[in-house]
Amino acid sequence: MTLTRASAVGTISATISENPSFKYSGSEALRRRAHAAIPGGAHTYAKGDDQYPVEAPGFIAKGLGCHVWDTDGNEFIEYGMGLRAVSLGHAYPAVVSAVSKHINLGSNFTRPSPLEVECAEQLLSLVPGAEMAKFTKDGSSATTAAMRLARAFTGRDMVALCADHPFFSYDDWAICTTPMNAGIPPSTARLTLTFRYNDLASVAALFAAHPQQIAAIILEAEKEVPPAPGFLAGLRVLCDRNGTLLIIDEMITGFRWPDCTAQRHYGIKADLSTFGKALGNGFAISAVVGRREIMRLGGLDHNRDRVFLLSTTHGAETHALAASLAVMDVYRHEPVIETLHKQGLRLQTGIEAAARRHHLGGQFTLAGQPCNLVYACRDRDGAASQIFRTLFLQEMIRRGVLAPSLVVSYSHSDLDIDRTVDAVDGAFAVYRKALDEGPDAYLVGRSVQPVFRRRAED
Ligand SMILES: Cc1ncc(COP(=O)(O)O)c(C=O)c1O
Repeated sequence: MTLTRASAVGTISATISENPSFKYSGSEALRRRAHAAIPGGAHTYAKGDDQYPVEAPGFIAKGLGCHVWDTDGNEFIEYGMGLRAVSLGHAYPAVVSAVSKHINLGSNFTRPSPLEVECAEQLLSLVPGAEMAKFTKDGSSATTAAMRLARAFTGRDMVALCADHPFFSYDDWAICTTPMNAGIPPSTARLTLTFRYNDLASVAALFAAHPQQIAAIILEAEKEVPPAPGFLAGLRVLCDRNGTLLIIDEMITGFRWPDCTAQRHYGIKADLSTFGKALGNGFAISAVVGRREIMRLGGLDHNRDRVFLLSTTHGAETHALAASLAVMDVYRHEPVIETLHKQGLRLQTGIEAAARRHHLGGQFTLAGQPCNLVYACRDRDGAASQIFRTLFLQEMIRRGVLAPSLVVSYSHSDLDIDRTVDAVDGAFAVYRKALDEGPDAYLVGRSVQPVFRRRAED
């Protein structure tokens, strides 16, 4: 079947067949060099080889809209796109043109650029209760900065993070809670506590066990599971009662959730919050924003001890700020949030119908807001299965869809979604047979593995 589609970024012709027998010889050669030069073969674990089946594109050479091409020239519809950073689409024209303009004007000077002010003001106008902002390049640095601010503001050492949310930062205070905690001193790990999502009692228990010691609690307002009635409001009350700051990590929810931020959507006010990912549509920009009283500790107009708040050589490169301004402009003037929701719903409806057709309701489940769909694969007994996840990924890739998640972008057209549902239908037929007959005859090579595991061979 040959399709030609008009996307948000122009016309892309895509040759799509049920089983295109993609070749990966270019990827294979590059993979050997990558593993010799880079620990893990990639600079981001979530993009690494152990996250994908053996038969998979190893390296992406270019992207346009929601389509990507690997180094062998194979074309895929992509989901998740840059670990959810590219919410508008690859090479999105409004963003590319803003970035190009500023690259040609120089990207880093000895004094700040006016874009720093403009971008901060624009972001603050979108986040309820936020009075000051500071930018940096990645989400981890932003959440770590929020932690340092909270510790300085409260004069306390302990922090608590939500154990059901997998990733807040690559820094010690967060990674110490994962099985991949080598290199982190126990003295650091002792300062990080954990609580459970939608479980106010688990938060109250921390406050009871560590009175006047917890500087901040951090969580995403929503992940796959929506907040239970009263949970977020209850957290606010518990934090206020205990003099602890509430930090909402909007790295994923920001510029994706209904109402643009989860805080606005659920009517909850954080003391500090963190943004990244979609803020730059793939360009490196992130931010910590929050109440003036707290944020100003990083400034010059107070007599308390100063907090070293996110000062870095590349923190305010003009092209990244220009990208972010262009992103916010698109969000202001176009129905981005509505489209993410609508296309996610179209995908969800199609996939759930396919799952029913193949009697896979118990084995393949979708979760999350339509704008942020993830899936779980289970075996015959209903146990979570990395083998069946690998098989599903493999069968989707064979059908021209790269889908570690089912997170849509503004560039996923109706045709892309329908094409994906067709691919899912084909993948489900194989999934069904593998459930009935065992996966060995269907899966090529080893299974994928979770990122956070102690040993590579665990
Ligand atoms: C919720 C959340 N917070 C923080 C981060 C860290 O962001 P970065 O990878 O840009 O350092 C991530 C990254 O995946 C995230 O999902």
